[in-house]
Amino acid sequence: MARWQLLPHTARVNALQHLELGGCDVVSLAEQFGTPLYLYDEATLRVQATDALNLLRAQWNDATLLYATKAYWAPFLARLYRELGLGLDVTSEAEILIAQHAGFDPEIIYLHGNNKTPAEIRAALASGITHFVVDNFEDIARIAEFGAAHAPSRIYRLLLRLSPNIDAHTHRYMTTGVADSKFGLGIQNGMAERAARAIAVHANLDLVGLHFHIGSQVFDTDALREALAAVLDVAADWRAKFAFDLRELNIGGGWGVAYDQAQTTLDMDAFLRNTTRALRAGLRARGLNEQIKLIAEPGRGLIARAGVALYRVGSVKELPNVRTYIAIDGGMGDNVRPALYNASYQALLANRMEERDAREYAIAGRYCEQGDVLIERARLPETRIGDLLAIPVAGAYQLPMASNYNLIPRPAVVLVGDGHARLTRRRESLEDMLACDLE
Ligand code: LLP
Repeated sequence: MARWQLLPHTARVNALQHLELGGCDVVSLAEQFGTPLYLYDEATLRVQATDALNLLRAQWNDATLLYATKAYWAPFLARLYRELGLGLDVTSEAEILIAQHAGFDPEIIYLHGNNKTPAEIRAALASGITHFVVDNFEDIARIAEFGAAHAPSRIYRLLLRLSPNIDAHTHRYMTTGVADSKFGLGIQNGMAERAARAIAVHANLDLVGLHFHIGSQVFDTDALREALAAVLDVAADWRAKFAFDLRELNIGGGWGVAYDQAQTTLDMDAFLRNTTRALRAGLRARGLNEQIKLIAEPGRGLIARAGVALYRVGSVKELPNVRTYIAIDGGMGDNVRPALYNASYQALLANRMEERDAREYAIAGRYCEQGDVLIERARLPETRIGDLLAIPVAGAYQLPMASNYNLIPRPAVVLVGDGHARLTRRRESLEDMLACDLE
């Protein structure tokens, strides 16, 4: 694929040979806001979310698109996604709080998590959330108990997260639907059925549906369809056994995204068409109700491409007969994905975009860790101190997984669009980092 397909939709090269995003010159942005800097392109955020929503709704009457907030969550995003009509998959109190402040309708917020704490469940209840995705037996008892205390006559709607024992063929750390996974309840081992029966005991709980999410950064659509079939088999089996009525089906997220030119992003249109066709046929073949609510909950697929990370080159070190390291002012503190998953990325020289690639460099971060190398082999023009490197597809799972390793402040975030740049998160200060330490 072309390098443009990795960048936000508004990416251009301007007359100065600088990368431009959302009508803003990124070299000027780096000067104004400092580096490392995370840029989000508003137009790309809008297009990705609107396209997914329209594609889903075109294929299924009663469809809900949830955004998985773990991919990146911030007040500006919450306002945008609320305006666009998305629902949310949330997993913590702070994620709920951001949604609440943006005025999200709690009816379309689903609480996830493999160890929802009592405090989280109570916070969810207090915010008006009534949908919970059950991942263990403790969830059931807690939601029933705290739910009754919160509103004695309210019914809470549960989806059971199933573990279908299907390999999504992604990185081991992102594979969640196999027999040995901390997520979900097994179909074959009978745990899911036991959970369904445990839910039925509580008058204030209604098992409205099933959920599966077999992994993240998935390209194997056969595995996703196999999981769908396995889950529909469960629905049919439980209907026969205890009159289970499937009303909501959540097919998870995990849509694979290209991070370099050698990869291909999952074709959302084809995927949703094929999935809904398989779903319709699968429901019919099993004599199940076809008027169900279909839910999808991608994170990365909606946001990854909207983000670009910008770094300043501070050192170029040529190791004779080995290789040349470029050291940038960020690294594993703001992007742990290469170190954690061996994730690949591609870099661009943002201040000399038209120059031809001249050599291969390793792009090292500034953290005290040998594994802090963002790109092992990056082809770039001759690169010098002070140059600006842009790493595209930086919108998902980078800032949310950022750390203060070496006590280095986390980056600032700027939203760009129509020639305007707005700081949506200020750079962390030294005082911010030290604020929690007591004498
Ligand atoms: N639904 C559930 C239940 C999930 O656990 C996840 C992601 C999603 C939806 C959204 O998946 P997505 O569409 O974003 O792939 N830190 C890793 C990814 C971890 C994903 C965790 N769960 C990474 O940097 O690639």
